[in-house]
Amino acid sequence: MAVRRCATDVVESGAGCGRATVPRTLRNSRAPSVGLRRSLCSRTLRTAENFREVNQREIKKVPTLRGKTVINLFFENSTRTRTSFELAAKRLSADAVNISVSSSSVTKGETLVDTALNLDAMQPDCIVVRHGSAGVPHQLAKVSKAAIVNAGDGANEHPTQALLDAMTIREHKGVIEGLQVAIVGDILHSRVARSNIHLLTKLGAHVRVAGPKTLVPPDFAHLVENNLIVTEHIEEAIEGADVVMILRIQKERQDSAYFPTLREYSIHYGLTNERLELARKDAIVLHPGPMNRGIEISSDVADSSRSLILDQVKYGVAVRMAVLYLATGGTVVNA
Ligand code: CP
Repeated sequence: MAVRRCATDVVESGAGCGRATVPRTLRNSRAPSVGLRRSLCSRTLRTAENFREVNQREIKKVPTLRGKTVINLFFENSTRTRTSFELAAKRLSADAVNISVSSSSVTKGETLVDTALNLDAMQPDCIVVRHGSAGVPHQLAKVSKAAIVNAGDGANEHPTQALLDAMTIREHKGVIEGLQVAIVGDILHSRVARSNIHLLTKLGAHVRVAGPKTLVPPDFAHLVENNLIVTEHIEEAIEGADVVMILRIQKERQDSAYFPTLREYSIHYGLTNERLELARKDAIVLHPGPMNRGIEISSDVADSSRSLILDQVKYGVAVRMAVLYLATGGTVVNA
């Protein structure tokens, strides 16, 4: 079934400094990065790179989305994603509204679809949604006239996180094609891992995935057609890697014991300086946040010059500007 304007994907190159339109693929595409063509991913990243310049100005505001309305509808806690979508909307001059689910009518028993229909009746151009259940953005896209952007759905996908990770890698490595990328940790519960596997392999990276057997589903090796290695040994994944992406242990999503203790997890899978020595000398370290310091990553590594964790957050604003720009289908006169 075609899904209406469920978007994180498409842009016209040169956005931010010239006229751009929303390609047909945006309006009919599926939200998860699994459905995106490589060329569309690349163009989204190029658009984000153009918008990045706006964030470096003293006055960080352009009229690109003036008159557009963006609603942030977050059913889960968020620091980085919610704030950066709000900043992205405001820097593009859109009107941004944040719905706090704890103080909304959801707490009175209103269904998700009714909530979406009521918000849609106020004619926003875009609804950014985060939800603890996989597939919610798709569900909302079927009933909403507004563009729906996936800001993370359960353990399924987090497309804009993968885009900002790719942007961070490209800024520091120049390319993505041919790089060895290790993704380590709680793969089972990680929407970040899924979106990055799809996006980075599509852009030509070689991805290795590592974690305890209980946290790496056996069928993960078949998630993409090629370029994916699955191992339970962190050292094997990290050896010779250009990029080491460490995932958060998601205590809130764990309904049974996947490893004996956090201490044991840290001993076997925590990223320390010693383990990082196995990677290439110029390897970079990424973490989507929020970090559990001393569990999946040591503070020494997190605070080192190889850690680009705050760069990821910085590029997140530009990526979300690009996604909102595309999702709302406006044209840019001059940024
Ligand atoms: N990376 C990420 O999604 O962080 P938040 O949960 O703070 O949005």
